[in-house]
Amino acid sequence: MSIRYVESKKLFQIETAHSMYQMKINEIGILLHTYYGEKLGNMDMSYQIPSVERGFSGNPYEISTHHEVSLDLLPQEYTSSGVGDHRISSIDAISNNGSRSIDFRYKCHKLLSSKYSIEGLPYVRAHKDDVCTLEIILIDEIIGLEIKLLYGVFESKDIITRTVELTNIGKTTIILEKVDSICIDFLNTNYDLIHFQGRHCMERQFEQNTLNHDIQTISSKRGMSSHQNNPYVILTELATTEDIGNCYGFMLMYSGNHKTEIEVDQTNNTRLVMGINDDYFRWELEPNSVFHAPETILTFSNLGLNKLSQNFHNIIRENICPIQFQNIQRPILINNWEATYFDFDYTKIIKLAKQALEVGVNMFVLDDGWFGNRNNDNAGLGDWIANESKLPGGLTKLSKDLKAIGMNFGLWFEPEMINENSELYKSHPEWVLQDPSRKPVISRNQMVLDLSNIDVQNYIFKSIDKILEGSEIAYIKWDFNRSLSNVYSNALPNSKQGEVSHKFICGTYSLLERLNSKYPNTLIEGCAGGGGRFDAGMLYYCPQIWCSDNTDPIARLKIQKGTSYGYPVSTMGSHVSAAPNHQTGRDVSLKTRGIVAMSGTFGYELDFDKLTDIDKSEITKQIENFKKYYWIIQKGTYFRLTNNKENSFYEAWEFVSKDKTKILLNMVVTNIKANSEIPRIKLKGLEKHLIYHIEGTKEKFTGAALMYAGYVFSLNIEDYQSFQILLVLEK
Ligand code: DGJ
Repeated sequence: MSIRYVESKKLFQIETAHSMYQMKINEIGILLHTYYGEKLGNMDMSYQIPSVERGFSGNPYEISTHHEVSLDLLPQEYTSSGVGDHRISSIDAISNNGSRSIDFRYKCHKLLSSKYSIEGLPYVRAHKDDVCTLEIILIDEIIGLEIKLLYGVFESKDIITRTVELTNIGKTTIILEKVDSICIDFLNTNYDLIHFQGRHCMERQFEQNTLNHDIQTISSKRGMSSHQNNPYVILTELATTEDIGNCYGFMLMYSGNHKTEIEVDQTNNTRLVMGINDDYFRWELEPNSVFHAPETILTFSNLGLNKLSQNFHNIIRENICPIQFQNIQRPILINNWEATYFDFDYTKIIKLAKQALEVGVNMFVLDDGWFGNRNNDNAGLGDWIANESKLPGGLTKLSKDLKAIGMNFGLWFEPEMINENSELYKSHPEWVLQDPSRKPVISRNQMVLDLSNIDVQNYIFKSIDKILEGSEIAYIKWDFNRSLSNVYSNALPNSKQGEVSHKFICGTYSLLERLNSKYPNTLIEGCAGGGGRFDAGMLYYCPQIWCSDNTDPIARLKIQKGTSYGYPVSTMGSHVSAAPNHQTGRDVSLKTRGIVAMSGTFGYELDFDKLTDIDKSEITKQIENFKKYYWIIQKGTYFRLTNNKENSFYEAWEFVSKDKTKILLNMVVTNIKANSEIPRIKLKGLEKHLIYHIEGTKEKFTGAALMYAGYVFSLNIEDYQSFQILLVLEK
């Protein structure tokens, strides 16, 4: 087992293939965090903790003559609160007498040979992996609160998962105002923080800052993980690059309000806490009840950021996404959104489907506008009944007719939303999240349904279920097009309104779970105005998520690259759309659009009437190539090959097949220069003494030449030109 407890030293040691994590119970029962990083053998790392007295750092009563023992100075595994640690706390709770003091001490622990699960929330699944669990219980007997710290260890994948469970073992209600899923302390190290910020149409932009003293926060309080700040951060040592150096990744498996706080303290120690955002959060923990926090996923890499990303890619592909989609080729889509927007009828749809079928597409996705009175974005959300004036015979006929021509059928929903102008709103205005004393905030003309209410969940489930039972639907696009405001449930008493944001997202998870269990082979693609809910929580139910509403390939390079730091390309919904692009007006060749979209789940989203025959044969070839490279792209090892600090005019990336015999190298010029320097791209992950040839040519190279000197591209005088070559290992 990869977890050990050394009783004589009161030491817990977790080991993965390339990392070590250590904790120790101190003399007064405080659970210290003593180490996370490179493997160091059997060493009690508590010698690193200084025994130094510092002014204004109080001491626990039972040891108050030892001025050097202070919660303010000790690295801890999960903090107490209000009892002398003046840094960020992992918890904030109020007991019956109004006190906010919580003082956790070690109670007991257990080692289990399987992975824990989390009630009502997504979690990293254990399949056949060598996974085990460590449970440590801390207790505050005065307030009557027990906290179970849970660690799942995926040894061969270099992943540790963490979560906490709080149980009220007292006789009175405890109000939880903050519950982090993880706290981790690093001693005296200078780190950079990498995080992924953005906005609608420009998600997950890489940003790196050096941490200064005090607290930096990465968060969302939009009711969704958000376009603005992804619940994923990296701490890196300052010299770390894509391929060298130490770095740590922390990913929250949660799709609602989240917050990560990183504090550099008075003596340069770094603390990170991550969990549900405490803004808008207040939970009444009644006696004998349990609160489950979302899971966090941790990994350490001593080989830079590419390796760190690959660790996340493996665990997400193999242990988070629904397993049934792991070893099958996902559909190549034609989505009618950018082809027709709301302006379609049966004839247009069938025509587009036939055109797409001819070039090799195998799934037609009918996007927004097929239901209720929805001819624009003013009306209809909530009324999940096909609009027969557009689609005579409804979805049953459409899906049959598509099947008859050999096309699979997929359908768009926005289940959590409602328009004021809808039948649903007329019959159930109380189902909207809305403060009854004021007018709601409207966004994209819509409001949000109260998913914390089981009746609402049942209504949505029944509506979708009825459609899935009546037609053959192999794919659902699950959209979500606004942030939450007026978060107030008419089904809950005033004192429980602080629970609504979390209960909302649990309601969404529960719905997705019901659909996944009844229709395990229906692929659900997540979406939230593009990638506004691109997180590990959604990926538990949806193996792919529409990466962005921005389909411009040049903008997509940055979005997909940013996304790749945490998430594999097999999760990134990516389509070839029209040129000039509808979001940016940029005119980019079909070839480049294809190469960028292929580093994702792939599909098309354009009006085939506007394509020439030459375009259509190019698309046919693109689809053949995508199918040929499918497993290299979807399951191969992904490497970022360009560093924004070194060049600003091209992007390159590579996939190495699992058996290392094939390498797909991609390159796009993003900003051509006159009289340009020559891009020499250094490949990664090759065997240096072996020979590789470029498919379809006589060119041959040693792995060493390609890795250490680079592959040379000859550029044309053309912006946004691109290259895709396959290198094959010589037998
Ligand atoms: C936002 C999505 O991201 C788009 O792809 C499209 O489905 C629209 N919503 C439809 O309203």
